[in-house]
Amino acid sequence: MTVVARAPMFQVLGAVAYGEKKAYEEASAKATLAGTDQERRVWRKTAAEELRHHKGFVRRLEALGADPERAMRPYRRALDRYHAATPRNDLEEAVWSYLGEGVADDLLRWLKRVADPETSAFVDTVLADEVGHEERATADLKRLLSEDPARRAQVAGAAWRMLAHMGLSGLAGGPSLVRFGAFLRVGSTRALLDQLVRGFSTRLRALGLGPRDLLSSALPITL
Ligand SMILES: [Fe+2]
Ligand SMILES: [Fe+2]
Repeated sequence: MTVVARAPMFQVLGAVAYGEKKAYEEASAKATLAGTDQERRVWRKTAAEELRHHKGFVRRLEALGADPERAMRPYRRALDRYHAATPRNDLEEAVWSYLGEGVADDLLRWLKRVADPETSAFVDTVLADEVGHEERATADLKRLLSEDPARRAQVAGAAWRMLAHMGLSGLAGGPSLVRFGAFLRVGSTRALLDQLVRGFSTRLRALGLGPRDLLSSALPITL
C-alpha cells in the first residue's frame, strides 16, 4: 500500500470494522428473539462469526498503525441509524437482509483486491463466513415468496425503501457521509462501483425485477 493510500484505507477499514460490530449486534438480537432452538443456534453462530470479523478488522487496523476507535468513529452515526430501522414486515426484512448481505459481500471482494496482503488474507476468511450468511438470507426470502407468490409485488417497494433508507442514513451521519468518500480514494473506484452496481442489479434480476420496477415503485415513497 502506498503512503498516500494509508489514511483512506484506515477509514475504509474503520467503516467495515464498525459495520461488522453492527452485524454482530443485529445477529445477537435475532438469537434472543428466535422462535425455535434451531433458529437460535443459527443466529448465535452468525453472531460469533460477526464478532470474529469485527475483532479481526480492529486487529488489522492496529497492525497497520491506526487507532481503531478513531477509524470507526466517523461512521457510527450513519451505521447506527441504518441498523436502527425497522422493516415494515417479514418480507421487507428478508429483502433488506438479502440485498444487504450481498452489498457487504461485494464490498469485501473489492477490499480483498485493494488491501495489503495480510488484510486480504483475513478478508478471505471473512468472505468464507459471509457467503453462508448470503445463502441463508437468499433461502429465507425464497421461502417467503414461495409460501405466498402474490407478495412478489411488494419486493420492488421494499428494495426501493432500503436504498432510500441507506441514502438518508448517510445524510443523517453528517460529516460521515463525506467520510464514505474514502472508499473512492483508496483506488480502483471503477471496480468498486462496477462491483456494487452489477451485484445489486444481478440480485434484483434474480428476484425477477429490473430497474424499471424499482423506479415505478419509487413514487410516492413513505419511510
Ligand atoms: Fe461479517
Ligand atoms: Fe454477515
